[in-house]
Amino acid sequence: MEKSEKMFQKLFECLADSVRKPQRFELGEALFWDDPHISKSMLEAHLNPNVDGASRRTETIEKTLEHFINSLSIKQGDKVLDLGCGPGLYSSRLCAHGISVTGIDISRRSINYAQKKAREQGLNMDYICKSFFDIDYDGVFDCVLQIYGELCTFSDETRNRLLGIIHRALKDDGRFIFDVSTRALRMREGVKNKWYFSDGGFWRPNRHVVLEQGFDYPEFDTWLDQYIVINEDGEVKTYRLWFHDYSLLTISQVLNNNGFEIEYIWSALEGTEYKKGSDWIAVVARKV
Ligand SMILES: C[S@@+](CC[C@H](N)C(=O)[O-])C[C@H]1O[C@@H](n2cnc3c(N)ncnc32)[C@H](O)[C@@H]1O
Repeated sequence: MEKSEKMFQKLFECLADSVRKPQRFELGEALFWDDPHISKSMLEAHLNPNVDGASRRTETIEKTLEHFINSLSIKQGDKVLDLGCGPGLYSSRLCAHGISVTGIDISRRSINYAQKKAREQGLNMDYICKSFFDIDYDGVFDCVLQIYGELCTFSDETRNRLLGIIHRALKDDGRFIFDVSTRALRMREGVKNKWYFSDGGFWRPNRHVVLEQGFDYPEFDTWLDQYIVINEDGEVKTYRLWFHDYSLLTISQVLNNNGFEIEYIWSALEGTEYKKGSDWIAVVARKV
């Protein structure tokens, strides 16, 4: 077969693949958060103070921490574990309040940035680059944080495994503070179905094409944003970002089944009063 014919066939397969609905939580490319180029784009997104991107905007982060300290009495001497701490935007501010924080993240770039910042600011931080599925703490922390919907990205089995790890890491009576997205957010953002050409950007440093396709699994409150990235040299990678959204009822059931009970809920981690139909549910759950 001619080279150009093979190329055409490959492109045709990519297009066909881009509209095939995957099995729920079917894996895509494993290297995402720690990919050398994507992690650079992610760090830029984390550090943009004005956009809710990889982290929320600075104003929201500051309000959230004010709420944690004033209303939840997270105080000097408490031991906090921040799972998926990114570049340490929450961890470093908590540490500056005298709280002892351990930050875990799988992205080397984010952890390197966080460590460098901590040195510059004279903060005694414990930042560790590893997967939060590989931690092994037993009864160490007063509080575990997981901020910006990370719990929604896992299948039920994987989520329950993580809740078990968090439960074990907490002291008796310790608190797990996190947020989950709801179906309302997903419906507002809507299905994406487009392709674009880039000279270099978020996914790749050089010329590439992205086939972006959203898939809805309404009976499971699950959603997939899929990105097929085609490089100029013909390399093709499929990235799958899964979201399992929750309602107050479903997240309560999950927590109860995994040894937690809900202490507080809000519509946002800054302490906004909970309203049915909100985009997010922020939760403080007590280990029982
Ligand atoms: C949406 S970002 C939120 C970061 C941070 N919590 C914030 O709000 O600023 C999710 C973070 O989780 C990290 N992450 C994803 N999977 C992880 C894993 N298995 N173990 C550790 N970190 C992980 C990513 O590298 C990323 O920094």
